[in-house]
Amino acid sequence: MKSLIKKIFLKNHPREIQELLDKSRLPDHVAIIMDGNGRWAQEKRLPRALGHRAGMESLRSAVKLCAKLGIKILTVYAFSTENWKRPQEEINILMGLLYEYIQKELDELHSEQVQVRAIGRTEELPTPALREINRAQELTAGNKKLILNIALNYGGRTEIVDAVRRIASLAAEGKINPEEITEDLFQKHLYTGDLPNPDLLIRPAGELRISNYLLWQIAYTEFYSTSVYWPDFREEEFMKALLAYQHRQRRFGGLM
Ligand code: IPE
Ligand code: IPE
Ligand code: MG
Repeated sequence: MKSLIKKIFLKNHPREIQELLDKSRLPDHVAIIMDGNGRWAQEKRLPRALGHRAGMESLRSAVKLCAKLGIKILTVYAFSTENWKRPQEEINILMGLLYEYIQKELDELHSEQVQVRAIGRTEELPTPALREINRAQELTAGNKKLILNIALNYGGRTEIVDAVRRIASLAAEGKINPEEITEDLFQKHLYTGDLPNPDLLIRPAGELRISNYLLWQIAYTEFYSTSVYWPDFREEEFMKALLAYQHRQRRFGGLM
């Protein structure tokens, strides 16, 4: 009965959800596929660009919540290696928004002790966006509160290929023996380097697929899907995902 009452509360009272969260059992690393901007706009008969802009606000809100709750790492999928297939106009809008996000948010991110990192083949991004992302990485490199990984021109398969290339060059230079290649060593050569793997992967907008995201890292990540579009995925929805995570039993292949 008590849990039923709590469930009813959950519908309308974000503060109640926050109280239900066990602060000692939050995920260290949350990954998000920021999806559904286009459909959000379409349903409102708005241009897709406005969906992406509203999605940028959701990113602000997600970063704020992670910093507030003490979640250590947030990894967001902003642009995939496959998203170049979209019309050039939409690509320009997305790159422009990335530039704008850093321009507007960098001071606040820095003052909130957020360390910004870009993961992906960022060198292939348009110069203005790349310059901003590099500026953000340099300025915030020493920050310790929250690591914000922004996946840009990111593909999980590309990431694995890039890791293989680096390891193969080390082997070719005689710096490493093939027997020394372990899962740990391989993982260190991924874009996420020394970071722990995500505990929770959130996909808004209802698709039940991975879309080439963090393929290696999510082997034992808890998956949470919701039909809510990313622009509507604000603090309350994020906390619902965290609450769902806290009810999962992670076994990593073992027994309870
Ligand atoms: C996510 O929203 C943004 C990016 C992929 C860059 P979408 O643009 O994919 O939105 P939908 O899936 O069309 O609704
Ligand atoms: C995944 O969303 C990529 C990002 C959110 C950046 P997509 O919208 O590109 O994925 P698919 O095409 O539906 O699989
Ligand atoms: Mg999409």
